[in-house]
Amino acid sequence: MGAPCLMLMSNDSTNNLKIPKHIAIIMDGNGRWAKSHGLPRNIGHVQGAKNVENICRVAGEMGIDYITFYAFSSENWKRPDAEVKKLMNLFVEYTKKAVKICKKNNVRMLVIGDRNSLGDKLVENIRIAEESSKDNTGLTMIIAMNYGSRDEIVHAVNRIVEDRETGRIEKNDITEDMFSSYLYTAGIPDPDLLIRTSGEMRLSNYLLWQLSYAELYFTDVPWPAFTSKDLENAIKEYSRRDRRFGNITEESK
Ligand code: FPP
Repeated sequence: MGAPCLMLMSNDSTNNLKIPKHIAIIMDGNGRWAKSHGLPRNIGHVQGAKNVENICRVAGEMGIDYITFYAFSSENWKRPDAEVKKLMNLFVEYTKKAVKICKKNNVRMLVIGDRNSLGDKLVENIRIAEESSKDNTGLTMIIAMNYGSRDEIVHAVNRIVEDRETGRIEKNDITEDMFSSYLYTAGIPDPDLLIRTSGEMRLSNYLLWQLSYAELYFTDVPWPAFTSKDLENAIKEYSRRDRRFGNITEESK
């Protein structure tokens, strides 16, 4: 069976869209959005968190199976203490609220990243949100928190070395699939589409292994202002792309 298609009820209602199975999002521009509205940066993050909920609902309705949000990178600790503290408080609040939201919308929630520095309350909330949503069968929402791709890869290599030394794996067992199974994203298919908001065109240490064959989409819209229409535009663009995975296709001949 091919990838699911969606007939969108919009101006372009004749367009059959290819719906990506997994979308990864770099939610950039919260601070700039807040500034442009004369608001403190933190309000940009609050608005950004609300938008996560909104976009998840739309993504679920569109038939997207997985959506991964970059909420806090391992480099974001460099920000001023007050901003980091506010972000951590926001995550504590959000992960608590997520239990109800996931239940209502049949969403499974997962968090990837290094939990060691996240604080007991947040780690406990994450545990509860993951546990209580684990049997939900709709969209899987993945939040990358204290996540860095290089850190993830080094972490995986260390665990592989350990498992090799203790004889749990053999030398020839190390394959691409096996390596993937040592990443935080084990069991989750690689993203088909990466969306970065707010004009920057870089990956910022996000899912470097997993994004190897993803289509990249950049928009100037800041994350708090990114709407379902913007998501639809990204998917329209994705639908026009000819994904070759190193091969040639009819279109590229
Ligand atoms: C980038 O904008 C955004 C962040 C570093 C934080 C992302 C967090 C959220 C959207 C809120 C919470 C999310 C969840 C899942 C609970 P920026 O601050 O770098 O903006 P700027 O580039 O305009 O300064």
